[in-house]
Amino acid sequence: MTGIVSLPEQASTLAESVDRLFLFLLGSCAFMVLFLTVLIVGFAVVYRRGAIVERSAETKEGLEYFWIGGLLLLFLLIFGWAARLYIVETTPPDMALEIYGIGKQWMWKFQHPTGHREINDLHLPVGAPVRLVLTTQDVIHSFYVPAFRIKQDVVPGRYTTTWFTPTRVGTFHLFCAEYCGLNHSSMGGSVMVVEPAEYEAWLSHRGNTQSMAEQGRKLFQSFGCFGCHGTGSQVHAPSLAGLFGMSVRLADGNLVTADENYFRNSILFPDRQVVAGYDPIMPSFAGRLAEEDLSRIIAYIKSLSPQDNH
Ligand code: CUA
Repeated sequence: MTGIVSLPEQASTLAESVDRLFLFLLGSCAFMVLFLTVLIVGFAVVYRRGAIVERSAETKEGLEYFWIGGLLLLFLLIFGWAARLYIVETTPPDMALEIYGIGKQWMWKFQHPTGHREINDLHLPVGAPVRLVLTTQDVIHSFYVPAFRIKQDVVPGRYTTTWFTPTRVGTFHLFCAEYCGLNHSSMGGSVMVVEPAEYEAWLSHRGNTQSMAEQGRKLFQSFGCFGCHGTGSQVHAPSLAGLFGMSVRLADGNLVTADENYFRNSILFPDRQVVAGYDPIMPSFAGRLAEEDLSRIIAYIKSLSPQDNH
């Protein structure tokens, strides 16, 4: 089958399973087309005008049960298979390397946890799961690496995430797959997958930087966040230590998970999701933080363990 159908090379752990499903869908469609064509042509010949054949309109019930039941099973199979794959695609392992990506007309900006930044290039170690936290500072873009079978829309005002494990050393093309204006077609770059040692060497070659979390801590300080969220603060504000990934009870009784989007919304629109037991006194930081800085502050909050006195 792969000989007839030309697919991009498989360079992530997801690629093989995505291809298997794709080829199955393609195969079943091809089979249906052939099968129905044979029936149509066959019936046209057998029942042509003047041919002496049985033309009573008697219903073949057994055949109908088979037809309906068979199709139902086929569609349920496709649904179950695709749903399973979707769950795998949306559940990153805990220890994934986290890269923040920002789309912008017309480039991709990345930041590694170590604080190193790249534009349109993304260096990654082979064999390690990578989780991308993506957003855009203007219009909708779409992060697309065919060799990884990854395509994730990047939407203004929120984070979307995707993950994969690169399985092959090499350079793989990165596209923007959502029309985003004049230079959409040139909005792309390369994902360079290298040996882990080479990745480390690449990082150290780029010199020492402050990690994203450290940069975030500086911002946290300069925006005065410690004044309320720091230990020993007189203001009654929720502690952020160890909060990432936890469930938070809101004043309206709802439970939300403290993920990247929760922190983002709490910083930009603090009066929307007020934590139960607290007053809506936090000022909004909307318009005061660039996307990069927002992701750094979130990286800092994520880095806090429950024992941290921040
Ligand atoms: Cu960005 Cu198309």
